[in-house]
Amino acid sequence: MAQVVDARLIVDGNSRELGIERSTIGNDGLAIPTLLNDTGLVTMDPGFMNTAACESSITYIDGDAGILKYRGYPIEQIAGGSNFLETAYLLIHGELPTEDQLNALSNRVGRHMHVHEGIKSFLNAFPRDAHPMAVLSGAISALSTFYPESVGRSEEQLELATVLLLAKSATVVAYLQRRATGGELIEPRPGGKYVDEFMRLAFSPASGELDIDPTVRKALDLLLMLHADHEQNCSTSTVRMVGSSQANIYAAVSAGIGALSGPLHGGANEAALKMFDNIKASGGSVEQFVSDVKNKVEGARLMGFGHRVYKSYDPRGAEVKKVADTVLADLGGNNETFDMAKRLEEIALSDEYFIERKLYPNVDFYTGLLYSAMGFPTPMFTPLFALGRMPGWIAHYREMMNDPRNKIGRPRQIYTGETDRTYVPIGERG
Ligand code: ACO
Repeated sequence: MAQVVDARLIVDGNSRELGIERSTIGNDGLAIPTLLNDTGLVTMDPGFMNTAACESSITYIDGDAGILKYRGYPIEQIAGGSNFLETAYLLIHGELPTEDQLNALSNRVGRHMHVHEGIKSFLNAFPRDAHPMAVLSGAISALSTFYPESVGRSEEQLELATVLLLAKSATVVAYLQRRATGGELIEPRPGGKYVDEFMRLAFSPASGELDIDPTVRKALDLLLMLHADHEQNCSTSTVRMVGSSQANIYAAVSAGIGALSGPLHGGANEAALKMFDNIKASGGSVEQFVSDVKNKVEGARLMGFGHRVYKSYDPRGAEVKKVADTVLADLGGNNETFDMAKRLEEIALSDEYFIERKLYPNVDFYTGLLYSAMGFPTPMFTPLFALGRMPGWIAHYREMMNDPRNKIGRPRQIYTGETDRTYVPIGERG
């Protein structure tokens, strides 16, 4: 598309020149900071389909071409060569770390994986069948009360909060897994590698060592990297919105976890697996289910399909499908469901309804199957997504704190209610 050089808005015959915000790649933006003052008009854009709320240099997506880049590096290269903590460093600090920098982060995170006894009591106070996303959101918010020295907007405080969030969220998610399966909590050991220590905390038998399957380790590391950031998605925008009021990073991330829990966002991995189970329970007809989806039968939506930005394919979904083939073959996971998922994908991809609407499998279509094969129960899928997304939320919060143009998020509205009524005391109402 040729670069726009001139943009004008005509209101009641009066023409105004609009500024253009230039991107390095991707969509430029129309600047309208004084629109309301100049014209008395606001813009209306439900779901922010066309609205940029900030500048960002963290992640780039080209939804038509199926491109995702972290700090300029294609996701396929990250997936093939990096690991989760290195990816976290890249997203948060903007550059790949040196070996010393990565070791320093890894050691620091490892030293902070223990959690305060109060947090353990707090986790134990929730009902055993509580949804882990609600518990996780509460636990992350509570971190500010246990580690007040990390609360604030100075670089040192934000660096400490970064380490604490990466470290404690892994321990909390692992503890939630142990609780869900009836196990006792075990203590983190400093010095371990991030993914190994997370798996040990989640799966280690009460006595004896966990023998970590290298295929599972690699797959989990990959899934965390693939989820690490996705620019201004619903949960990240929530983190930014909460942070824009200068609320602390724990409050902002906790709110992001709430946003992620919805079935249209991170909750889709859990919803997709439930969908596969429901299709099986009702006789296994994939064709019938697709027909119900197309006819918009209540409750029939193809979970794990479609994306606000990707309109050709989700490059993360392609990586997940590749690894699902290896892991499920290796672990002898739920191949029957995997085969059904692949059939469902094939039918949907050749159906006019999905083609017309540009609906493709997103990252969540196959992740549930993988998590399940690794031994995670269904409600743990979205907390695992949250663990992966932690670096992205942190990076965006920190980027925003250093952005001189940051303002408190405060949208306008088009009011459509009553205009002028007189209060009637309760005894006089008809
Ligand atoms: N199954 C069936 N139809 C769908 C689906 C789907 N998964 N997704 C979109 N459509 C249809 C809509 O019904 C609509 O059809 P219409 O034009 O006949 O009304 C059309 O496609 C456009 O869909 P919208 O909902 O307007 O698209 P939007 O960009 O607002 O939503 C979303 C994107 C929420 C991801 C949607 O595709 C969806 O609900 N997908 C299923 C849930 C899911 O997998 N979410 C995970 C997203 S990835 C992530 O957050 C990590």
